Amino acid sequence: MPKKNTILTLLDMKARGEKISQVTCYDYSTGRLVDAAGINTVLVGDSLGMTMQGYNDTLPVTMDEMVVYGRSVGRACKDTFVILDMPFMSYQASVEQAVMNAGRLMKETGANAVKLEGGKTVAAQIKAIVESGIPVCAHIGMTPQSANAFGGFKVQGKGEANARRVLEDALAVEEAGAFMCVLECVPPKLAALITKKTKMITIGIGGGVGCDGQVLVWQDMMGMSDFKPKFVRRFAEVGQILTDAFKAYDAEVKAGTFPNDSESYVKSDSSDEFLAQLDAEY
Ligand code: KIV
Repeated sequence: MPKKNTILTLLDMKARGEKISQVTCYDYSTGRLVDAAGINTVLVGDSLGMTMQGYNDTLPVTMDEMVVYGRSVGRACKDTFVILDMPFMSYQASVEQAVMNAGRLMKETGANAVKLEGGKTVAAQIKAIVESGIPVCAHIGMTPQSANAFGGFKVQGKGEANARRVLEDALAVEEAGAFMCVLECVPPKLAALITKKTKMITIGIGGGVGCDGQVLVWQDMMGMSDFKPKFVRRFAEVGQILTDAFKAYDAEVKAGTFPNDSESYVKSDSSDEFLAQLDAEY
């Protein structure tokens, strides 16, 4: 019998050495499938700026948009733990702004936690959000909202000084109260060391197998996008399956073979005589 994943069940999984699954999700239909599959946690990521809205990066995504997408996923997930991303500039400017926006995401979507990007620099925000009773997932390493500052989407933690910086970021967000931390594009031994040194659940995306769990953007893992970085494995070619199905539908509509009688309300039809009368009257 599946049961709701909570911060406690997830931390217990880490304690028992059980791996934790996470995928991104942005809508009700996909959320139901993710929930039925037994995925532990879902991330309504601001990657929806790219996957759902066609932007080049996550920066344009707004709080209002996160509420709309997040609410749909929240309604779908019965057992899966739902984490909502805080979009760019919804938490960076001040601690107060961060708490208000985290609170809004929780109030208006039914999420179980929020996620924000950054290490030491956002520790005060994480602490205040956690003190408001909201679980926080941190996100360090390659943080897409800062891609302009990094000069692109680049591996973080290469070289001794950078590796130390990433580890110190992990310790800072743990100290601030984060229960979970995404490690994005971090070399695997460094990610494994962070996983060992912290009680937080580490979730890798391009962080190697030594993390407590893994996350992938669902469109990438299902062949629904052209994005194929090193860390993505395609678990299905859903994009191709859908394209083939749309082509088959297009052909049947154009050939007049869809719908057939069993797909029409034949039994409710009027008599031929009455239809002939209507035809004559109008
Ligand atoms: O926005 C997102 O989907 C994310 C994941 C890639 C971790 O932050």
